[in-house]
Amino acid sequence: MRYRNLGRSGVKVASICLGTMQFGWTATEEQAQEVLDAYVEAGGNFIDTADVYSRWAENNPGGVSEDIIGRWMKDRGVREQIVLATKVRGTMGPGPNDVGLSRRHIMDAVQASLRRLQVDYIDLYQAHSDDPEVHLEETLEAFDRLVRRGDVRYVGASNYPAWRLMKALCISRERGLAAYVSLQPPYSLANREFDKELLPLCVEEGVGVIPYSPLAAGFLTGKYRRDEPVPDSARAGGIQERYFNERGWRTVDAVAAIAGELGVTMAQVALAWLLQRPSVVSPIIGANSVEQLRDLLGADDVPLSAEQVQRLDEASA
Ligand SMILES: NC(=O)c1ccc[n+]([C@@H]2O[C@H](COP(=O)([O-])OP(=O)(O)OC[C@H]3O[C@@H](n4cnc5c(N)ncnc54)[C@H](OP(=O)(O)O)[C@@H]3O)[C@@H](O)[C@H]2O)c1
Repeated sequence: MRYRNLGRSGVKVASICLGTMQFGWTATEEQAQEVLDAYVEAGGNFIDTADVYSRWAENNPGGVSEDIIGRWMKDRGVREQIVLATKVRGTMGPGPNDVGLSRRHIMDAVQASLRRLQVDYIDLYQAHSDDPEVHLEETLEAFDRLVRRGDVRYVGASNYPAWRLMKALCISRERGLAAYVSLQPPYSLANREFDKELLPLCVEEGVGVIPYSPLAAGFLTGKYRRDEPVPDSARAGGIQERYFNERGWRTVDAVAAIAGELGVTMAQVALAWLLQRPSVVSPIIGANSVEQLRDLLGADDVPLSAEQVQRLDEASA
């Protein structure tokens, strides 16, 4: 496992981050524990969750992924070796203040996350998405207070439009507040929206990018193929809607061809492409099993040639 600085911050994170949205949704607690054990055994130190995971799943009130990670860290005694990232913003209750990026909700939500995770501090606390109903000043001042108080070590953003991220960075700079060190956008060979405005911004400002859905929810793994039956997966509906089009299939064909040439899996090729993109620090993978995890961790060693990168760039453009 390689380690890289998270943007301009001094903290070192593994080049593959373990996402945990699956835990309590498409992976049971037992499977989650196996995946967490295997990730740490392989040298992984970077775990991403969110307070809201996975409220959309049946019988899941939210907070379940944080609960599972908290129990696991306590049981294994590994908290100090983990760089722990979570998020705030999603709906956590029926009230008007149980959601969003107000000072009021952030101050409550961080306490709830610390309790579920059974920790004294969170390494990376992220705004899950922009909240257009709250002034950025209010959000950033609340985050800054958490950093000064020691509840949080660094702050990051997710799903921000470029102009809002740039504005947030300027406000932090002008007022001497803790600034976002990272951005978590959706980014993969199947979704390159990030390239347009956010990529140059992140390079210029030294924001560390931790892309989510790096396999397009599984579309780039080889189990979705042109003219073949759609696999049985909770993710299949969204995938069909978003990626079943000519550009999507052209990209899958290119990934498959290069995987064949290198004797590696398609998922490894898709992750290796992301790992060589400017500003990308650590793609956030989502594994339901140790088998899926081991496959994905192999991406760090895939030697894509310049010619192969160009073919992937062109197919997915
Ligand atoms: N900030 C945000 O708004 C946001 C949004 C989404 C996700 N995230 C974070 O990013 C993480 C990853 O997102 P994601 O789950 O969409 O990522 P992804 O890597 O694009 O997709 C993961 C899915 O791909 C399939 N898969 C994984 N490894 C595989 C393998 N080796 N072979 C075949 N199929 C494989 C699994 O689907 P099957 O169920 O079909 O096996 C798995 O659920 C999440 O856990 C979460 O931490 C953040």
